[in-house]
Amino acid sequence: MLDGKNLVLAVPTSSGKTLVSEICMLKAILERKVKAVYLVPLKSLAREKYDEFRKYEKLGILTAMSVGDYDSPGAKLSDADILVLTTERADSLICHKPEWIDDIGVVVVDEVHLVNDPSRGPTLEMVIAKITQMLPNIQLIALSATIPNAEDIAAWLKAELVRSSWRPVPLSEGVLFESKIRFSNGSSRPIRHARGEELADLVCDTLDENGQVLVFVSSRRSAVSVANRTVPIVRPYISRSSMETISQASGRIAGGPSAPEASKVLAKMMQAGVAFHHAGLTGPERTTVEDCFKGNLLKVIVATPTLAAGINLPARRVVIRDYRRYEEERGNQPIPVLEYKQMAGRAGRPKYDQYGEAVLVARTEEEYDFLMDHYVSSEPEEIRSKLASESAIRFHLLSSIAGEMTHNREEIDRLMDGTFFSYQFNRWEIDHYISSALDFLEEGRLVGRSKNDELYATGLGERAAKLYIDPETAILFRDALSEVEAFHPLGMLHLICSTPDQPLTHASQAETEDCEVFIGDHEGEFIVDISEQMDDYEEYPRFLAQVKTARMLNDWISERTERSITEDYDVGMGDVHRYIEAADWLIHAASEVARVTGRSQLIPSLHALQVRVKNGVLPELLELVGLRGVGRVRGRMLFNHGLRTLSDLYRAPVEEIARVPAIGLTIAESIKHQLGFETSDAGDKVPATSERDDQSASAQTLLEEFEDEDS
Ligand SMILES: Nc1ncnc2c1ncn2[C@@H]1O[C@H](COP(=O)(O)OP(=O)(O)OP(=O)(O)O)[C@@H](O)[C@H]1O
Ligand SMILES: [Mg+2]
Repeated sequence: MLDGKNLVLAVPTSSGKTLVSEICMLKAILERKVKAVYLVPLKSLAREKYDEFRKYEKLGILTAMSVGDYDSPGAKLSDADILVLTTERADSLICHKPEWIDDIGVVVVDEVHLVNDPSRGPTLEMVIAKITQMLPNIQLIALSATIPNAEDIAAWLKAELVRSSWRPVPLSEGVLFESKIRFSNGSSRPIRHARGEELADLVCDTLDENGQVLVFVSSRRSAVSVANRTVPIVRPYISRSSMETISQASGRIAGGPSAPEASKVLAKMMQAGVAFHHAGLTGPERTTVEDCFKGNLLKVIVATPTLAAGINLPARRVVIRDYRRYEEERGNQPIPVLEYKQMAGRAGRPKYDQYGEAVLVARTEEEYDFLMDHYVSSEPEEIRSKLASESAIRFHLLSSIAGEMTHNREEIDRLMDGTFFSYQFNRWEIDHYISSALDFLEEGRLVGRSKNDELYATGLGERAAKLYIDPETAILFRDALSEVEAFHPLGMLHLICSTPDQPLTHASQAETEDCEVFIGDHEGEFIVDISEQMDDYEEYPRFLAQVKTARMLNDWISERTERSITEDYDVGMGDVHRYIEAADWLIHAASEVARVTGRSQLIPSLHALQVRVKNGVLPELLELVGLRGVGRVRGRMLFNHGLRTLSDLYRAPVEEIARVPAIGLTIAESIKHQLGFETSDAGDKVPATSERDDQSASAQTLLEEFEDEDS
């Protein structure tokens, strides 16, 4: 390790793999004056590592973290010695080619088994291939607890393999069946069956012994509903003083009347000692939940697999409630053993517990046998490259050409030689994907050829790569926008929903007719020619999903409440915001495409639509929501009270503004302050971002008032 060799560590969960990588990073930074990159798959994990590495600040070693939005090259990253990055962020940074990239001397790939993940694995493989091609002399350290074919990973990375089965804290894995957890080592533990649900029994049993529980479920919707059901069970275990401390912490995430429903529900649940955790949480929500759990204030977290890998939490018991997950076209499928082992590995972490337990729940004897054989007593599956995918290859070829990493087929082939795919299979098996991706990019005019036959990215190609959008999205935008002079918002939202980058909500059989009526009523508003899709039997369900999602977004910008949208469209709480965030980003991307394709005249209306989508407002509120601390709820209140423009607000006395429901003095003063008036200090206290972040007491009281009115 200290000789700078490449290493693969295949060692159990919680055994301290991070520490090994830290030693390598420190040695390289101190002796060779290079930078170290620490790659992680999850935002929560990035934050945990970032917090941990900051202890080296006293040695003058700086750590920076970047996980967020894709488009801008990080500024402070240039000063840092250790960069903690999510895989996608690293990929996008490589495309921006910051000058410090040559300073990288060590790359740690945490949770390297992610290569096996169909949606994110290809990016990880390509990031590693790109980095090793650019910087052939770096030291690579790959970490994972769950790779049976670690030899393959080691051979791919030209690394030495270190394998061990030592785990510092014992972990027992078992299955609960007929009020007894039976562990793989033959021992068992009775669980008092006092409630209707096994999960409740397991939670009480752990809480009675002063432990904390982490429950894994398969969807965001279940995370919220299971957490909600757990509230009455956990509440009696929370002391009054804990409740007050949590209340202060959770107040920070639920402030402001325009806060998403899910944030309000989360804050309320937390006061009973329970939280849900999924990828839809905002950064502050995630950290608050994790910190409260680490501080033993929260007793139970119900999470999707977003907490499954790498994280250190004080969970003495992990309950894997769902071992099946819904997959499009395949229905409910058992999750991979690898994923189960990762979840199980969150129990019993050295910092927090002396032992850990991972429990699955069986209802029948057959199920018990299946869970025991298939999960508890099984080895994880072998890792296999998932790069053989048309869309992945297309995406990464464009970025390698735009990043001037490859200029011709030979260089592309050499880059692809560095992937796990080429190691595991034969590169020629993806040659046809490469050829067809190149054809696609050239035909779509994202890539061109110079006189000496060198490949280069066109203006649009370069933009698409930097925006980190699917090449197909860029082409769709360019073609659609080249034809329209003006657009109806619904048409634009539908265009957004027609791209592969927008998540969609599925339209059920029962919704089909309603959807068709809607299409008939709005036929003239679509930008995309829908006649073909309507006749394509295979594409029809996707087409309906696109229309349904566009319609939902259209309701959002027509100021329908989040709660009624959630009910009408049968989507999970918090999901609405997932669609909104993606659409917000894609409208931004569309306006960038308009800019580089000579359609700048569309930018103002695209920009207005983006603000409407971000805030969920009708056009008449656009001016008001430009103010800090004013979102859809306060904007509407002001408007309905006759304060419709910034000049109305400019003229109105602060007391009058403060009297408007949901406003209050703090916000009123902030508004005046923003309009250039000298006010007391209060005006500065409103956070810079949005109404969602507001914490003022007046807003809190008025929130309840407003909620009644809302419902
Ligand atoms: N030598 C050590 N002595 C005491 N505690 C340690 C030691 N090494 C690591 N730890 C602690 O053990 C915990 C687990 O370490 P770490 O997060 O590196 O596990 P890991 O091997 O990466 O597991 P996973 O596969 O789950 O990611 C951390 O809280 C870490 O601080
Ligand atoms: Mg780890």
